[in-house]
Amino acid sequence: MNILKIAKTIFSAATILAIVGSIQWAGGSEMGWGGLPAGKGRAETFGYCVACHSTKLIIQQGMTRDQWDETLVWMVEEQAMQEPPPELRELILDYLATQFPPHRPHYQKNVQ
Ligand code: HEC
Repeated sequence: MNILKIAKTIFSAATILAIVGSIQWAGGSEMGWGGLPAGKGRAETFGYCVACHSTKLIIQQGMTRDQWDETLVWMVEEQAMQEPPPELRELILDYLATQFPPHRPHYQKNVQ
């Protein structure tokens, strides 16, 4: 095998791996939820939070409800997030506190 053939073989192997990887990523993220686990409030959380950053920033966290509450305050006060209406804020907060509590049940599965 000459060097060009070796290079081609490596290149096509890398391409296949990249394609398989992206299919797995799409599957793992449940077609567009960015890895957010299913649950009440997922769509609202996705819609509200992904305007500025990826879901990974959320998924990697593990916090109590109070800490999530403070995070939302921080998003509004320091990161220019619009204050959500009360019912929406409650829904998002419930979702975050349920799905991303301190022991981080989704961390290993979804963050790569
Ligand atoms: C208007 C833009 C904006 C919106 C909307 C927004 N964020 Fe953020 N968020 C930011 C920015 C900017 C940072 C990075 C701040 C930094 O690290 O200094 C951040 C960082 C974070 C972090 C990382 C904190 C850390 O310790 O690294 C979390 C968690 C987070 N946001 C949660 C949320 C959640 C939950 C929502 C939806 C309710 C949300 N954000 C919506 C702008 C936004």
